[in-house]
Amino acid sequence: MRTPVIAGNWKMNKGPKEAAELILELKPLVEGAKATVVLCVPAVDLQSARQALRGSKIRLGAQNVHYMPSGAFTGELSAAMLREAGAEYVIIGHSERRQYFGETDETVNLRVKAAVAGGLVPIVCVGERKEQREAGYTDALVTYQTLIALTGLTPEEVKKVIVAYEPVWAIGTGLTATDEQANQTIRVIRDALSARYGKRVGNAVRIQYGGSMNPKNAKGLMAQPDIDGGLIGGASLKAADFAQVVHFDR
Ligand code: 13P
Repeated sequence: MRTPVIAGNWKMNKGPKEAAELILELKPLVEGAKATVVLCVPAVDLQSARQALRGSKIRLGAQNVHYMPSGAFTGELSAAMLREAGAEYVIIGHSERRQYFGETDETVNLRVKAAVAGGLVPIVCVGERKEQREAGYTDALVTYQTLIALTGLTPEEVKKVIVAYEPVWAIGTGLTATDEQANQTIRVIRDALSARYGKRVGNAVRIQYGGSMNPKNAKGLMAQPDIDGGLIGGASLKAADFAQVVHFDR
């Protein structure tokens, strides 16, 4: 069975001091969680977050990684740097990076390969915009995004990757995909993985839902058979809300 993974994506929120404060508040609230809990914090928070997380099972993640090991890439961070600073996971290809920073399926693929080679677990984001859903492209698009992102990985490597299905129209809007809509698209992604890498791999990959997931809708989404977790934006910035999502099963 797949262990659910609930990850917070703090986006561009909170500096090192606030990060430590939020983590100290969150730690006791998520103790005993059955899900793997991950916090993807701004890179400058990794050090203070790592300290604040001592004694906790919460794992640490970053929000992006460059595909080269070092060199003249001003403003970028390598997988080795993130590992050294305490990250074990990294979000790659978030729709905000695709929309505002020119991220493409090809650069997402390069980053995924660098992350895996550098010992980070990638959380690969895919998802359609509103007009793409309305035009009926969702299934083809998420299939393409997912398969391109993972190109070059071995089946064993693919098994360890986390995919986050985040419909762009549901991010930060308060609109959520219905439980069935989310599950149906996640099923499409899982079937594509099974077709390419075999059923054993398709059944092993954890696929999250993301987009206005919160304490109210988490239980219903998580009850769906193919949804293995959530990538939580806004609701991950409040300890009590995030803890409720983490304890979706209570
Ligand atoms: P919200 O939960 O704020 O909609 O953000 C979702 C998201 O983009 C997580 O990566």
